[in-house]
Amino acid sequence: MIQQVENPIIEIHDLSVSYEKKPVLWDVDLTLPAGKLIGIIGPNGAGKSTLLKAVMGLLPLSSGYINILDKPLKEVRDKISYVPQRESVDWDFPTSVYDVVMMGRYGQLGLLKRPKKSDKEIVMDSLSKVGMEGFKDRQISQLSGGQQQRVFLARALAQQADIYFMDEPFAGVDAATEKAIVELLRQMSKEKKTVIVVHHDLQSVARYFDWIILLNMRLVASGPIEEAFTPELLQETYGGKLTLLTEISDLIQKNRFPNRE
Ligand SMILES: Nc1ncnc2c1ncn2[C@@H]1O[C@H](COP(=O)(O)OP(=O)(O)O)[C@@H](O)[C@H]1O
Ligand SMILES: [Mg+2]
Repeated sequence: MIQQVENPIIEIHDLSVSYEKKPVLWDVDLTLPAGKLIGIIGPNGAGKSTLLKAVMGLLPLSSGYINILDKPLKEVRDKISYVPQRESVDWDFPTSVYDVVMMGRYGQLGLLKRPKKSDKEIVMDSLSKVGMEGFKDRQISQLSGGQQQRVFLARALAQQADIYFMDEPFAGVDAATEKAIVELLRQMSKEKKTVIVVHHDLQSVARYFDWIILLNMRLVASGPIEEAFTPELLQETYGGKLTLLTEISDLIQKNRFPNRE
């Protein structure tokens, strides 16, 4: 079930990526629609983070190419924003919350320019959208996991991009933060942003996403949630590793795509 779209916002053609000589992504062909909330789903080690890094130009490709907004990455860098996995970041670095979020402005600003009043307003507005305006002078090392994740999101918001890539934004955050982030993602989607999120909690997939990509080294599925989130395709993605398969299958039958508010 690999649905190709017309006028894709992202086009991935024949992509393969290896670390040393070990292939991790194999021949991925994928087109994605604009303005949707898109989940990348698959087991540990499936290559989900690798896929985001490849799209962001952070890894060499063994083969293939990627177009974003019909252009190569280097021409659209300021239109895309990336929130890496929280564990991959050095949080002991001595910086304030405010400065981290201001980093989101440097793409537009250039590294040596001083922030204007409008940049400062965007930073404070982004902090308030994630409920962190009261923490602007706090050192980032002094934050909880959920607060760190919110700051990361604020930095991404400050970039005012069109496309957002987020690697496991819900990992290790409290329920209140997860809810706040989901609401923010919905809001971004209403504002016609395209948001692509690596996610591994199958329980919430149908509630959160419009479209999903199922990945396990190769592409298993890409399509609207109603068509791509099926027990058969999950089985194919997770293989024997999905011990919860019957439960998930029940879940899909029971609340097949509950209304989203
Ligand atoms: N820098 C690296 N060097 C070598 N192997 C790596 C590196 N990063 C990831 N891998 C391997 O590539 C595979 C895919 O990793 P990753 O994309 O992080 O998976 P996921 O995000 O789906 O859990 C895993 O087997 C992982 O061990
Ligand atoms: Mg990962």
